[in-house]
Amino acid sequence: MIPVNEPLLGANTEKYVLDCLNTGWISSAGSYIRRFEESFAAFVGVKHAVTTTSGTTALHLALAALGIGPGDEVLVPDLTMIAVPYAVLYTGARPVLLDVDPETFNLDPDRLREFIRNWCRFDPGSKKLLHKRTGGAVRAVLPVHLYGHPCRMDEIMDLARENGLFVVEDAAEAHGAQYISERLPRPLPAGSMGDAGCFSFYANKIITTGEGGMVVTDSDAVAERCRRLKDLAHSPGRRFLHTDLAYNYRMTNVQAAIGLAQVEEVERFLSLKRKMAEAYHRGLSGLDGLTLPLEKPWGRSVYWMYAVLVEQSFGLSREEMASRLKERGVDTRTFFVPVHEQPVFQKDFLPGGESFPVSIALSRKGFYLPSGLALTPEQIDEVCRAVTDVRDGR
Ligand SMILES: Cc1ncc(COP(=O)(O)O)c(C=O)c1O
Repeated sequence: MIPVNEPLLGANTEKYVLDCLNTGWISSAGSYIRRFEESFAAFVGVKHAVTTTSGTTALHLALAALGIGPGDEVLVPDLTMIAVPYAVLYTGARPVLLDVDPETFNLDPDRLREFIRNWCRFDPGSKKLLHKRTGGAVRAVLPVHLYGHPCRMDEIMDLARENGLFVVEDAAEAHGAQYISERLPRPLPAGSMGDAGCFSFYANKIITTGEGGMVVTDSDAVAERCRRLKDLAHSPGRRFLHTDLAYNYRMTNVQAAIGLAQVEEVERFLSLKRKMAEAYHRGLSGLDGLTLPLEKPWGRSVYWMYAVLVEQSFGLSREEMASRLKERGVDTRTFFVPVHEQPVFQKDFLPGGESFPVSIALSRKGFYLPSGLALTPEQIDEVCRAVTDVRDGR
């Protein structure tokens, strides 16, 4: 079976991990943590990077460090991984869902603008944006760079700044993706534009530590709060004296050692991803009824997953196609289930618009093909042949 995702480890992985084992530095104290954080911060082009235990805890930590809590609301896309609304709920705040952009599948700034215009009012006393339906304070927007393509960040940043919202980017799936702003001479890396950016290093991510995550930021204060909150918030002058509720989100030195070896080779990994996308484009373009992933002129996608849409004219449903591909040894995954359809959220989410037609349509017809870094050109050809055969009824 050609797997959907298989990691590639950096050449120095064994050396660095053995170093941890041989020296006994296996907990979160150890030099690889600092080295991984520094090299990752340089890769994203930010001042600070703070390791965590997962992408989910990175999101929670970033929101907590920005002071998001009970009574607050955070705007999130309806089509996303469940960790996004979960992280908002962990803080005591509530997620407000927005429909997504049909081309990039990301939070749609037009829906964000509409929500602010139709459902919010700015309260000059508290200097907060209040949600008219709930009275809650809308404090932040959480754009997710889904499947490796960046969001329309200029518009999102403008709306956030005009309305006093924090921006927490979720770049879990977009390590190395770039947004090309018309206003700046150089492209901006995903994760570097908001008040904080969050990454996952789960085994299927471009840079992996097995499990793990990172919060990046240019703000000294946010970085300092993340460091305190992820380590149980010991008092500065007295260890084991605690004034704040905090968490243990500490990554181990062994994970950081794996991560450092990965960052050293990230440019090679990114070029493998682009080559994979080019090969799929060549092999699949012209197949009627299959919409291939696009790259907008203002973005540089890293094609974390090669995500395609099965249109009605394809002649088979997405489910039929996935099961026929499986019979031929090709594993696939369907898109996320929209957050508003998740049983766990039936009471806790708030709609940020009237409906979610785009997110619903994408979730019904989207799926992704094998996209791991270890995928060979021969395997990509095999997948393209299998898709073509399935479509032609062979
Ligand atoms: C967009 C997105 N956000 C957050 C997460 C959560 O990361 P983790 O699995 O490391 O907790 C993931 C995925 O795995 C993700 O894809």
